Amino acid sequence: MTRTLAPDADGIAKAAKLLAKGALVAFPTETVYGLGGDARSDRAVAEIYAAKGRPSFNPLIVHLPDLAAVEAIAVLGPNARRLALAFWPGPLTLVLPLRDGAGISPLVSAGLPTVAVRVPAHPLAQALLAAFDGPVAAPSANPSGRVSPTRASHVLDGLSGRIAAVLDGGPCAVGLESTIVLADPTPILLRPGGVPVEMLEAALGERLSIGGDTARPTAPGQLASHYAPLAGVRLEATEALPDEVLVGFGPVRGALNLSETGDLVEAASRLFQTLRDADGLAGPGGRIAFAPIPETGLGRAINDRLRRAAAPRG
Ligand code: TXA
Ligand code: MG
Repeated sequence: MTRTLAPDADGIAKAAKLLAKGALVAFPTETVYGLGGDARSDRAVAEIYAAKGRPSFNPLIVHLPDLAAVEAIAVLGPNARRLALAFWPGPLTLVLPLRDGAGISPLVSAGLPTVAVRVPAHPLAQALLAAFDGPVAAPSANPSGRVSPTRASHVLDGLSGRIAAVLDGGPCAVGLESTIVLADPTPILLRPGGVPVEMLEAALGERLSIGGDTARPTAPGQLASHYAPLAGVRLEATEALPDEVLVGFGPVRGALNLSETGDLVEAASRLFQTLRDADGLAGPGGRIAFAPIPETGLGRAINDRLRRAAAPRG
């Protein structure tokens, strides 16, 4: 059975104790819920891959409480340091060279010489990291290839019975996964996410090049078909075809709406819940259509997730 833990001192202590025993605990971050396990334990990390049904060549993000803890396991170049100081704690993941003897299970980075690290801002994530006092490997807490969870109930929908517990922190504020950057020597965007690219470029004083290769992914978020709802998805729709559930944005009004005022922050926070709701409304074999979303700010990450939801299923 998967236990639901309350967002209080007792729930945090129980969650930390489970992690220390090598068990898996889902916890809220400001982006999405993570499926946490002790990043130093081969067994816990192997169980994360098994619980998600995730291919073991897709590496995991290590969550740490602050920059000092990151520097104990990884090496920051000048660009990485600039981004860390500007955006941590927050929805940014940096891919960094792993330090020798860092003690991180090699399964975390799937044999790569680098490690992806993030300092989450969510107070419960911070409290859990402090109570556990170690590195927590955590992919999004959903079965591989499905929509990411932004509520504890979503975690249970996908993983109930496969993990020890979920720490219930209510809905996630950002609603989209972190932005992933390989910062040095040349900054490369590996996944658009909760920190808009424009803000990264302003902090760096240079343009990011776009990395990622759907044929040979270094990030599972880069697999062409990902974030898949059960229904088929059509993009750039201005009206619903017969039997389609239209999800509106701004002036395009649908049965559901990401943001009636055209607010991209609101749209990001609602995206994954809305995909689930639309899936429910569309029913088996149904179809979902999405209104156009501008390709600026968080719109870039929203469109990235929508394109993957709409991609042919592998
Ligand atoms: O917001 C987030 O990032 C959430 C929360 C829980 O922190 N986590 C998340 O994890 O989205 P996941 O596993 O769904 O996505 C992690 C991404 C994957 O696309 C993975 O391939 C990439 O990070 N990644 C991990 N280690 C990497 C590395 N060494 N090099 C390149 N990409 C890496
Ligand atoms: Mg994921």
